[in-house]
Amino acid sequence: MTIANALSMARQLLQDKLSAARTVVDATAGNGRDTLFLAANTPADAVVWAFDLQQEALDATARRLTEHGMTGKCHLIRDCHSRVADYVTGPIDAAMFNLGYRPGGDHGFTTRAETTVAALGSITSLLATGGIVTIVAYPGHGAGEQENTAVADFLAALPQAVFTAAAWRMLNQRNRPPILYIIGKKGSESV
Ligand SMILES: C[S@@+](CC[C@H](N)C(=O)[O-])C[C@H]1O[C@@H](n2cnc3c(N)ncnc32)[C@H](O)[C@@H]1O
Repeated sequence: MTIANALSMARQLLQDKLSAARTVVDATAGNGRDTLFLAANTPADAVVWAFDLQQEALDATARRLTEHGMTGKCHLIRDCHSRVADYVTGPIDAAMFNLGYRPGGDHGFTTRAETTVAALGSITSLLATGGIVTIVAYPGHGAGEQENTAVADFLAALPQAVFTAAAWRMLNQRNRPPILYIIGKKGSESV
């Protein structure tokens, strides 16, 4: 494992789980980098559900998937991730959230605490035994700070008998670096 930043740590934690995954979720498709990562690292018969509210994000994600020949297993959904249960019946093996705004897009259009927490509630309800959720949060700006606190509070309240909830952050980086949160559902396989 290479210690680099919250995003690469998320991917490294997910990697093992993906090799046998059937159903995975990218809760924030953005430019499609994470959707492609999920598609490229899951079996051919896995299904990747990618959500975003912005059409530009889904267009960018579709372009990236097409470039890599990965469109077949991906469903791109223009809807709020809090409505994940309307599309995915579960069990979900792995899910990723990369919060904030789309790089290169409208910086005023960001994820919001209320819908992020609602989505986390739905996804943890649908999470498979041994399943994992990663959330990269950006506490360095106003709305992001509030959202980061809401995410941390959500994880802290998860029942210890059912879930592992953890956080990872860089300690020697300036300007409030992103924080990685990890949720694992306890079961036969430890996370
Ligand atoms: C930081 S970007 C995601 C980056 C992306 N994972 C990638 O690999 O390029 C965050 C994305 O979340 C989307 N978003 C904001 N609120 C959302 C919501 N309620 N439901 C789904 N997506 C949302 C934004 O439109 C934006 O594209």
